[in-house]
Amino acid sequence: EKGGYEHFMLKEIYEQPKAVADTLTGRLSDDNRAVLPELDWALGMARGIDRIHVVACGTAYHAGMVGRQILERLTRIPVEVEVASEYRYRDPIYTDHTLVLVISQSGETADTLAALQEAKARGARVVAVTNVVGSSVAREADDVIITWAGPEIAVASTKAYTTQLVALYLFACYLAQLRGAADPATIEEVLAGLRDLPDAVSKVLDTAPAMKAFAQQFARKESAFFIGRGLDYVAALEGALKLKEISYIHAEAYAAGELKHGTLALIAEGVPVIALATQDHLYEKTVSNIKEVKARDAHVLALTWTGDEEMASVADEVLYLPRVSPWLAPAVVAVPLQLLAYFAAVERGNDVDKPRNLAKSVTVE
Ligand code: F6R
Repeated sequence: EKGGYEHFMLKEIYEQPKAVADTLTGRLSDDNRAVLPELDWALGMARGIDRIHVVACGTAYHAGMVGRQILERLTRIPVEVEVASEYRYRDPIYTDHTLVLVISQSGETADTLAALQEAKARGARVVAVTNVVGSSVAREADDVIITWAGPEIAVASTKAYTTQLVALYLFACYLAQLRGAADPATIEEVLAGLRDLPDAVSKVLDTAPAMKAFAQQFARKESAFFIGRGLDYVAALEGALKLKEISYIHAEAYAAGELKHGTLALIAEGVPVIALATQDHLYEKTVSNIKEVKARDAHVLALTWTGDEEMASVADEVLYLPRVSPWLAPAVVAVPLQLLAYFAAVERGNDVDKPRNLAKSVTVE
């Protein structure tokens, strides 16, 4: 049932080009619109939304952080993102037209479900992004966007995450097009990028041998840092979570510009730093931050686009990624970071599919 792969996690990493394509099926029209027939929203309702709360846990929360940036850019609606275990006890403020977006692969996460119920009790409309048709979250939400990733068996989330990103890009474009676009050029860029995404995800799987070689040294370390700015910061958070979860190497993700406010004290000779540099408008800033950690003798692996001519002289090692729109970069960057976590965990002899202390579906709070 592992289809020739050593672990479910590796199989699911390799299923991503197909999973992403399945999430997109029927949802991109020929005239470049995001089509979500399951929503079928009235114009007045869509135009009335004045606030969005995104609520989720773990990896799904990171998807929500990406979702916030694209939703704000395309709709100009203020978006808050919060982990469900905090949100549900915080007495959040709802306007009469607040939309609550919950994201849950399993659709059974206790805190996310409780947040959904609280939001409904307070009169908010709830949209769920989930992978499981008929799950509790799917049944209780007002609207449901299914990710169609197929069953995810490994505890560490991989294809569920990349397909959540796709669902959120589609939803942001759908809502923006319905309301009258604030930024048609970016919508076009995102929709065109989505069409090419299965191909880009397939190409980035070719980084597996390089990530395996890197992981063999890396697996002996006890601590690592992931840095980036903007969407790269979100990708860093997800990369660090995946690494901790299955390799048990301590990892911290930092907004690259925040390093000098404390964390730089922990950067010493040989400390591995994974630096993400896919956001063109922030590239030079990130390069400066890489130089800061290099000055303290960190060992830097940088991830940047193919064609980059500067990074090789700045970082110790560079991994080149097939170029996509920077808006879609989190979906591409996720893959080598999943592979890094996977190969480090294998190298350390860990139970990759069932990491210690963790369950696939967290139905207790
Ligand atoms: C990490 C991971 C978890 C889940 C989290 C939410 O790899 O799998 O962080 O993302 O427990 O689960 P769902 O999405 O089922 O609500």
